[in-house]
Amino acid sequence: MIIVKNISDLNNIISDQSSKTSNIGLVPTMGSLHDGHLALIRDANKKCDIVWVSIFINPTQFNNLKDYNSYPNEFENDIKKIKSISSNIYVFYPSVSDIYKNGVKSEKFEFNNIDRVLEGKYRPGHFDGVATIVKKLFKAIKPSKVFFGEKDYQQTIIIKEIINSYFPKITLIICPTVRNNDGLALSSRNKLITKKSTKKSAIIFETLLFVKNNFVKISYKQLIKNVKQKIEDISNFKLEYFEIRESETLNPYNEKNKRKSYRAFICVKVEGIRLIDNILIN
Ligand code: PAF
Repeated sequence: MIIVKNISDLNNIISDQSSKTSNIGLVPTMGSLHDGHLALIRDANKKCDIVWVSIFINPTQFNNLKDYNSYPNEFENDIKKIKSISSNIYVFYPSVSDIYKNGVKSEKFEFNNIDRVLEGKYRPGHFDGVATIVKKLFKAIKPSKVFFGEKDYQQTIIIKEIINSYFPKITLIICPTVRNNDGLALSSRNKLITKKSTKKSAIIFETLLFVKNNFVKISYKQLIKNVKQKIEDISNFKLEYFEIRESETLNPYNEKNKRKSYRAFICVKVEGIRLIDNILIN
C-alpha cells in the first residue's frame, strides 16, 4: 500500500497515473473509518482502475475548536481497514501545513443559501471549509469519479455545486447510508458517545421512519411536535433540528407537490455530540 504524505509526491504519482488511465476514483475522508467509508471504498475499487482514499481532518470545516480537537484520529487502524479491501489502494495523508500553505482559512463560495440551512445554520462556515478542501483534493488528485455517502446529504448537494462550477468532467457517486443493526447511521462521531446512548440513538432512524410512514397522514406541524417529543423523551437527547425540504434544491417544504421529492432531515444532540440523519419520504 502506498501512503503519500505531501503534495509534491502526490503530484508526481498523479501525473504518472493520469498518463495511464482516466478512471481514477477518490474517496475523501477524515479518517476514523467505519463500514460506511469502507462501502464507499469497495464501490470505488469496483468501478475504478486506481483508487485514492484521502485521510485529512480538515480544520476549516470545524466551527468549534473543541469539536476539531476531539475528532477521533485512528490512522494505523484506518490503514489496516483499507488494506483489508485491497493493498493496491493509494492513501493521501497530508499535514495541515501542506494543505493550507497560505494560512488555515477557507475560500468563500456562493451556494445560493444551500450552505446556510440545516447543518449550515448551526455550523456557520462549515460548507465553505468542506468546499475548500474538496476543491483542493479534486484539483490535486484529478479523479474521474468521487464517492460520498448519502448520510451527509446536504454535503452531496454542495459537492454537486463544486463539480458543476469547477470540475464538470467528474462523476459524483452517492452511496446509501450504512446503518448498525439498530438502524443508527454509522458516523465517526458515534465513537464519542457511551454504549448506552448509542443503543438509545436507534430512536433517530425510528423517528425518520415514523415521518416517512406518516407524511401523507399527519400535518407538518403535528409531525414536528411528534418528532420533538419522541427525541426529547430520552434523557440527554436534544433535538437540534427537524425539517422537511425538497430533495433537489433543499428549499423548505410548504405544501405537497406530487412532482417533487422530499426529504426529512434531523440532527440530535446526544450527550452533546451532534448526530445527523436523513431519509427520502415520498
Ligand atoms: O464527509 C467528510 O468526511 C468530510 O466532510 C470530507 C468530505 C472528507 C471533507 O473533509
